[in-house]
Order: sequence, then structure tokens, then C-alpha cells
Amino acid sequence: MTPEQRQRLLEILASGEELSPEWSRILFPPEKREYELVYHGKEREEDIIANTLAVPLQPVRTFNKNGVEWHNKLIFGDNLQAMKTLLEMKRRGELCNADGTPGVRLVYIDPPFATKQEFRGSQDQKAYQDKVVGAQFVEFTRRRLILLRELLADDGCLYLHLDVKKIHYLKVVLDEVFGEGCFVNEIIWQRTASHNDPGRYGCVHDTLVLYRKGSSYIWNSPKTEQTQDYIDKFFVYAESPDKTSWIRLKKGENAPSSWERYRLGNFASPHPRPNLTYDYKGYKPPANGWKVNIDRMRQMDEEGLLHFPSDKDGRIQSKQYLRDTLGNKAVSDVWLGISPLQAQSSEKQHYPTQKPEQLLERIIFASSNPGDIILDAFTGSGTTCAVAEKLSRRWIGIDCGKLAIYTVQKRLFNLKANIGNKGAALKAKPFTLYNAGLYDFGRLKDLPWDDWRSFALTLFGCQDAPQRIGGIQFDGTLKACPVQVFDHRKQAGATITEDTLRSIHEAAGAKIGTRMFIIAPAMAFGFQQDYIQIGEVRYYALRVPYSIIHELHQRDFLALKQPTDEMAVNNTVDAVGFDFIRTPELEYTVGCGKPEGELLEEAFIRIDSFHSEAVVREPMQKRGNRETLSMVMLDYDYDAAADVFDLDEVFYANAIEAAGWEVRFPANRLTNKLMAVFVDIYGNEARVVISASEFGPAKPGKRVRTAKPDAAKVTKAKATPAKTKSRKK
Ligand SMILES: C[S@@+](CC[C@H](N)C(=O)[O-])C[C@H]1O[C@@H](n2cnc3c(N)ncnc32)[C@H](O)[C@@H]1O
Repeated sequence: MTPEQRQRLLEILASGEELSPEWSRILFPPEKREYELVYHGKEREEDIIANTLAVPLQPVRTFNKNGVEWHNKLIFGDNLQAMKTLLEMKRRGELCNADGTPGVRLVYIDPPFATKQEFRGSQDQKAYQDKVVGAQFVEFTRRRLILLRELLADDGCLYLHLDVKKIHYLKVVLDEVFGEGCFVNEIIWQRTASHNDPGRYGCVHDTLVLYRKGSSYIWNSPKTEQTQDYIDKFFVYAESPDKTSWIRLKKGENAPSSWERYRLGNFASPHPRPNLTYDYKGYKPPANGWKVNIDRMRQMDEEGLLHFPSDKDGRIQSKQYLRDTLGNKAVSDVWLGISPLQAQSSEKQHYPTQKPEQLLERIIFASSNPGDIILDAFTGSGTTCAVAEKLSRRWIGIDCGKLAIYTVQKRLFNLKANIGNKGAALKAKPFTLYNAGLYDFGRLKDLPWDDWRSFALTLFGCQDAPQRIGGIQFDGTLKACPVQVFDHRKQAGATITEDTLRSIHEAAGAKIGTRMFIIAPAMAFGFQQDYIQIGEVRYYALRVPYSIIHELHQRDFLALKQPTDEMAVNNTVDAVGFDFIRTPELEYTVGCGKPEGELLEEAFIRIDSFHSEAVVREPMQKRGNRETLSMVMLDYDYDAAADVFDLDEVFYANAIEAAGWEVRFPANRLTNKLMAVFVDIYGNEARVVISASEFGPAKPGKRVRTAKPDAAKVTKAKATPAKTKSRKK
């Protein structure tokens, strides 16, 4: 600390002012480095790991079960908290690679960075605001990189994918987190062919950086295919399957099918060699002789490896078949041949920011082996999961967006074996969808005792430490104080009252210390207070759901936020804490109409009211009673027997609002039943199944926009808390 800093610190302390976060780095400097990135709000590594809440993973459903023990994992929730839980699984030996090494072998992340910042003000204010947003993004990503490093196997590695705007900051952060010596590559991926950026060079690339965790890492040297241009230029010969005839292809001409393409190899000796100078089948030798002696010449001839020109004055040359050179070109750190997704591409999921499968194929192939665990903590449309399936790797995908989760689910139901989602159908290995941070309480309370007990302890950040005090069984500790998980099933109907606490106090009060915690479903408590003081001991009620969690974790919870328009899908989401699923209240009207001047009928679902409730709330703009709607997702041909929502189309709240709170789509998309999932901004869902017949026939000439409830067949419905079914009023 400099003398000036010391002086300033004394002044702050004397005045009673609060110390700003920068002081923590001055007072407790991290290990000395030659240089490091300094910015507002940078936390100490130790604090990040220690203060991140581990939220339990609640299985929602397993798909494609086949009796094997490992299930790939698709996790809905904030990745930071989910990774803390995965870290505990790693420590318990539950995450192991094909060769038994603990941890994940490969991490690929493509975090979002919202470049479209709404900011009104002067240029200086804007520049300042951009920097604040930038620093927050750097810290958001750094916190996750620290956890990812912990999750990696000792011989694992990480690819971070960003565009040019922030990669330089994050590379410095990666040097700090992994160590500068663990930098392996910076990769330039040309993601678009041309770009006209007025006044500067067109920006056509993204950057990926590769870091290893330890001294060794998996490296399967990737090879690449020759480009079509290259093939057309050099592999200009083609021979018949029986090798008796050949042709020279004209520019752009295709070889007849089953004919093999080849190019000519130089067959002349570089130095004068009398023993290699001989005539062969009437062809004269080159000036220095052939490349091989007469015996080898005969052998190559028998094997069909020689090209004899029709003109005897020409030279014999060797053949180099296209099939032998395919995929043989070593890959450099500039990736040119992987094109972005085209609108009609068979792998397109209509998810903004989706990356091509070919990109992930290269990464996963190079840096992992079959059976290894690949983690993508910003899964998006699930490119990593899909490619991991195709390359026989195991995977874990995390995303905090409902749209992402349903997109991945759909993608895995429709997998094709080849990269680019082509070829034969491929059945995805078993995978389980988990909730992390947003829980279905109805299911929780039906868990077997051991599962419930450990869920409850994890939820409140307690240590699992069974112990007996004064003859009473306790399950764990919280801040060194005993914790008891109430067995609400064994003691069905029993209530925890002040008398219950008094009897605990009589038996163990003298040995408990100053605090004791009881975890139980909210309705099991027979009193309203957060704690009851008996003698020296404060008996806290940890109600499930949420009660005094703020006090316990001493921080404000931030809810997961779902986007309300397509641009916002690429926002960073930083959620802290947990919540319980609360199905929004929904009322809607359906009908059919024909917009003026249009030939096709349009069906519509009008949202009459939508209310949601979440423990963690933030101020928001008013939108009538529909202010918490994030999006509506539709499955046009819902298969009730399979009971799986198979996403077909998404409508964002902003667009729905602009359309008079109507979701409109061509009526011919309706088949038998439609499932609509109404998602609120906290990630809660209201689901309804609507029969095609309920939409009724269209009124000719009727504009959907102005359709009144009585203008078409109308159904009013209220979504219920049921997971997949809805009860109609
Ligand atoms: C750029 S996209 C990833 C696209 C993906 N690589 C693909 O090929 O489809 C980033 C994703 O990160 C998710 N995301 C943002 N913040 C997150 C968080 N804290 N935890 C988990 N996912 C998050 C967003 O929902 C978005 O789907």
C-alpha cells in the first residue's frame, strides 16, 4: 500500500464512510503478478468459489432411457450456480471421463454479449456506460471461467468463443485464471464471407482461444478436407473402375460416378541417376532418370499406380488418388472452410447465434476422446450436445433460457448421424433434463426421504453432517450450528410448534449453542415468525419454500430472466438464488379469421390475462396484466400419447403485444392438437393443449386483428399447475 493510500484509508475509516470494493484488492492483494486486468467490481477468486451458491439439480424427466447408468445432462438454470453443484459431483467422483479421470475433459463456451445497449445521453456518458457494461461482462465471464477451470479434468482444456469486441480482455483474464503458460492457441474463424463495414475493413471473423488446464492435454491432430476449388484445379484426371481407361476433366466437369479422381505426381529423379534411367513400355525416361528402379516401376504398374499418357513422347507419372488425400491437410489456427449456417441448412434450429456443427466437430474431435465428458455452459441451441452425440462423447449442457432448453430437446429428438444434421436418423443417448434454481415443489415433497434430506440441506447451503446432540438426531450444520431436516412424510400431518421447539430445547438446548435451524415445508410450521427465541437459543424455521433465505445467504436474490424479444436471447443472465415454480394464471381466447386481402386463414390465440408470481422480483415496466410474459412457444402437432413438447415456433412478448396480444399463425398448421407453452420472465410455464376444432372455422373477410371473442369460435381456458395438461374451465 502506498503512503497516500494508507492516509486515505485512515480518513475513510475515521469518517465512517463505506469502503469501496477496490479496497479489498489493495488490502488483500492477490498473488503478485507482472500485470493484471484491473476493473471495477473484480472479486477475489477465493470469494467467487466460496460465495457461489450450489443449487441442487432436480430431475424433471429422462428421455430415451436404456438402462445405462450415465445420463447426459441438460440443465435449466444459471450456469454459475449449476457448476458449483457439478463441482461437488466431481469431488464425489460422479463426473469421470472414459479413462476414469475425474472432471470434464473439454469445455466449449460461447457466452453472449449484448452489443445493443440502449443508452440515451451524451457521447461521453455513453462511452462511460459502455465501459461499465464491459467490465460487468468481463467479471460475469471471469466468474464462470474460474468455476470451469475447477470442473476441468487435470488434462482437460477450454475453448472460449467470442467476437472481436471483448476477446482481448478475456484473454488477459484467461492468462490470470489458467496461467499464461497454459495458452495453446488463438483461432480465427472466418464466420462470414464478406462484410461491408463503412470506413473500415469488413469484420468477418470470430476469435476462439484455447487454454489447457495442466501440462498435458488430449490432442488428436485434426485434418481437413481439400476445398472444391483445389480439387477442381488439381485432381483433373478420372479413371474407370477397372483402371483400363482415363479421361482429363474440363474445368468444373464432374467425373462419371464410380470413376476415381486423381492428380499426377512428379515421377522424375531430382538428381542424375544412371541406374534409374531406362525405357519403360516404350516411354523415354526424364533427363535424370525415373524416381524408382525398374522393379519398383513394375510393381507400381501392377498396382495401377502409374499414369501412362496417350502420347508416347509424354512422361509416365505417378497417380495420387483424391480418396487418399481427403482429410489429410493439417489444420492451422485460421479456419476458413467452416461456413456459417445458411437459411435452408438442415441443421438450422432458428435459434439466434447458433454455431455450425462443423466448428464443434473440429473442436470436440481434436480435444477429447470417445466417452469423455464435454461441457457447454452456454448451450443455446445445443450444437455442442448434438455433435458430442455424433462423435460418441458424453455431454452436459446448461442454459438459463427456456427457449434454449426446448430447442435442444427438439434437436436431440431429430438427430441425424452426420455433421450438418444429414444422413440416417440417430437416436440420442439417454439424457435427463434438470431444473437448477427453479423447482417444482409438488414433486420435491414426494421424493424419498434420503433424496429430500440431501436436497433440503443443499438448498439452504448446509453441510451434510449427521450427529446426535442430547439424544436428538440432527442432519447437518449451517454456519457451525446444528440443522434438522423435518421428515414430513414419516410425521405426516404433524406440525412444528413452539412446544416442539421447547422439547428440543429441554433435551439439547444446553449443548446447541446460540442457533439451531429446522428445515421443513412451509405448511409444516405452526408459527409465522422466522425464529423463536428460547433461553439463549434462537430456533430458526427454514421454510421450504422461501422464507428467511435472504438472511441466511445475506444477499439479494436475482431471478432468472427470460427474454421478451429475439435480440435479448443474446443477453447475459446472472441469477442468484432459487425459487419455486409458480404456474402463471392465464386466460385466453382462440379463434380463426381471414386477414383482409390474404388468401390464407389465420388462427389466433389471444392472451386476455397473464399473471405470474415469483419470490424474486425486480421492478418492471407495466404492460397491463401481461407484464411478466416472456414468450409463447407452440407445438402445432402435439403428440399427447408421447407427452413431449416438441417446439415448432416461438413468439416473443414484444411482438405479441404489438399484435394486440395475439399469437397468430396460418390455420393450416393446425393438425389434431396444439400445445402452447406460455413462459413468464422468471421461467415459469403455463401449458395448454388446444384441439384444432376449438379454433373453429374462419369468418370470411374477417381481419384477425379485430376479431372479437364472439367473432369466431371462442374457448376460454385457465392454465393449471399441471406439468403438461391443462384444465379447461
Ligand atoms: C451465444 S448463445 C450460445 C449459442 C450456442 N453456441 C449455439 O450454437 O447455439 C449464449 C447462450 O447463453 C445463455 N446464457 C446467458 N447467460 C447465462 C447464464 N448465466 N447461465 C446459463 N446460460 C446463460 C443464453 O440463454 C444463450 O442461449
